[in-house]
Amino acid sequence: MTAQPLLEVRGLRKAFAASTGLFGRGPLVRAVDGVDLDLAAGEVLGLVGESGSGKTTLGRAILRLVEPDDGAIRFDGVDVRALRGRELRRLRRRMQIVFQDPTSALNPRLRVRALVGEPLLVHGLARGRALRDRVAELLEEVGLEPSAMDRYPREFSGGQRQRIGIARALALRPDFVVLDEPVSSLDVSIQAQIVNLLVELQRRHRVAYLFIAHDLALVAHLADRVAVMYLGRVVEQAATRTILDRPAHPYTRALIAATPPPDPRRARARRMPIPGEIPSPIDRPAGCAFHPRCPWADARCREQDPPLVAVAEGHLAACHRADEVQSESFDATDSGRPPLHRPTAKPSTARPDTTPGKETDR
Ligand SMILES: Nc1ncnc2c1ncn2[C@@H]1O[C@H](COP(=O)(O)OP(=O)(O)OP(=O)(O)O)[C@@H](O)[C@H]1O
Ligand SMILES: [Mg+2]
Repeated sequence: MTAQPLLEVRGLRKAFAASTGLFGRGPLVRAVDGVDLDLAAGEVLGLVGESGSGKTTLGRAILRLVEPDDGAIRFDGVDVRALRGRELRRLRRRMQIVFQDPTSALNPRLRVRALVGEPLLVHGLARGRALRDRVAELLEEVGLEPSAMDRYPREFSGGQRQRIGIARALALRPDFVVLDEPVSSLDVSIQAQIVNLLVELQRRHRVAYLFIAHDLALVAHLADRVAVMYLGRVVEQAATRTILDRPAHPYTRALIAATPPPDPRRARARRMPIPGEIPSPIDRPAGCAFHPRCPWADARCREQDPPLVAVAEGHLAACHRADEVQSESFDATDSGRPPLHRPTAKPSTARPDTTPGKETDR
């Protein structure tokens, strides 16, 4: 990246005390465990990883909706972690978030007019007639009638509620928006419409997105670059095309293999579960945290934690065997399955017709 990035995250950490019921604090859950990220103005960075890998915590910690334990966050040259009170509120005008579940994110007792207008009112940017006009404009921008203003969130469908959430996030014309799985709670038939809306708004306003999703295919559709998270860390980061064509981390390869192709007739044959379970962030495996699930793992991987390093210009990966992983011929769109199960899999688990039901729900 050439110019100074809009957002620079270094060594960010956030741990939670796991709840142990009666006796208070339990062991530490290292939800975000030393993350570095850069985001340029107007750029879309996709953030993918399995459930529990720390994506939401990372997004919220960047905005200081949860207070980080350690690390640095610079936004447009400003040290975000040093800000207090009014200064922090002022910066929040420029950094917004859209939540996964629009129903719980919108106060059911407020009309849309108040929900979308609130940020403008709080920051003293509009009131009275001007506020009303601005809310109407925002609603139109997200594909809702201005008359929606006088209704309550419960009167809308899930997709429409997410449009309201997006209008609210965009009300202050932010430079950066965290989108935390903005379509995963929505009906599949609605998801594409909302994704298209987000893409259109991003292009129109040149806003930067941190787009969080489980689904690599979805992220690949709209992100300039992709960061892959595993157990609280970024294990690979590169331009979207590079991630798809030349993944250097076995976990990324596994995510690609687990993603169904666009043609649903081949989905069943192509979609592969990632072997093993994601370990607990309380009990991080020694060495490379992915080694218990990794077909490439050798003695070094069991002992030494690989740092995130450049394997090519603009392409970072945290894998001792990145060269070998990359050099193995692998065509994500066309060939058979990548050799993920190569040394360890029992043939029966790798056969498409015996893939567990959970993985064949399409
Ligand atoms: N407030 C909290 N208290 C305790 N543990 C938490 C808290 N928030 C998150 N965690 C734990 O931190 C880890 C990361 O959670 P996080 O929600 O960030 O993951 P995620 O990648 O967003 O998952 P998902 O894909 O399911 O949304 C998990 O182990 C989770 O249980
Ligand atoms: Mg999450």
